[in-house]
Amino acid sequence: MYAYQPIGIFDSGYGGLTVMREIVKVLPEYDYVYLGDNARTPYGNRSFETVYHYTWQCVQYLFSRHCHLVILACNTASAKALRTIQQRHLPVTFPERRVLGVIRPTTEIAQQFTRNGAVGILATTGTVQSASYVIEIRKFFPALRVYQQACPMWVPLVENNEHEGPGADYFVKKYLDQLFQQAADLDALILACTHYPLLIPKIKAYLPDGVQLISQGPLVAASLKDYLRRHPEIDRHCSKSGRREFLTTDSAALFARQASIFYGEPVEAQQISVEGL
Ligand code: DGL
Repeated sequence: MYAYQPIGIFDSGYGGLTVMREIVKVLPEYDYVYLGDNARTPYGNRSFETVYHYTWQCVQYLFSRHCHLVILACNTASAKALRTIQQRHLPVTFPERRVLGVIRPTTEIAQQFTRNGAVGILATTGTVQSASYVIEIRKFFPALRVYQQACPMWVPLVENNEHEGPGADYFVKKYLDQLFQQAADLDALILACTHYPLLIPKIKAYLPDGVQLISQGPLVAASLKDYLRRHPEIDRHCSKSGRREFLTTDSAALFARQASIFYGEPVEAQQISVEGL
């Protein structure tokens, strides 16, 4: 066992920092290493095979940095790669390691957000096409009605720092209108993409009264805390010296400049390569 075994947090780019930020609030004593695959982001419009291949490379890289537990803090990766990694790779190659996603912590409590029994999912095209949210919510709550809306322009708006500008209003209104055309009585919307919390002020401006907006960060953080309590055999492989590292597959200087928008405080980053994994 190594003295330093951080919890790995993976995202296609910066978005997972909105999840990490909530996790470190709830579990500050743990060590964390964040990996953003910025060189190949966005994942949202990529094929199943590509998202799976990229994600598995990054998970193996985090394993090589002694992570025993890795969180896929990316909905697209959770939707398209998690199941294959959990079922095909881990049992054979890394039976003691764990990889968890962000979809289950949100879907297993979906019913508590809605009075009308109608939930909306706002996500990338890839997550919508996978239907992961619909399938998972139906498993837990078969009577809930679930409506999905792909928002392909939202990640580029956030990545390009245009989420507070007037261009964002057009695309926020457009996708919300399309969602409410599917079901006017929706009263709970899940932000099923890690970038979307940055658009919350704009989204709220166009939401009908009484509609609840659900961000995943706090839900994932609470679920991880519960998981570590229930799994002491994993918890003892997670070191606790309060250290945070930030890795990116693209320029470290660029990452450091952008990351604070998502993480809420300045970070220092290091560039790494996952080629060959
Ligand atoms: N982080 C991804 C997600 O949560 C969105 C960004 C991307 O398309 O890569 O779905």
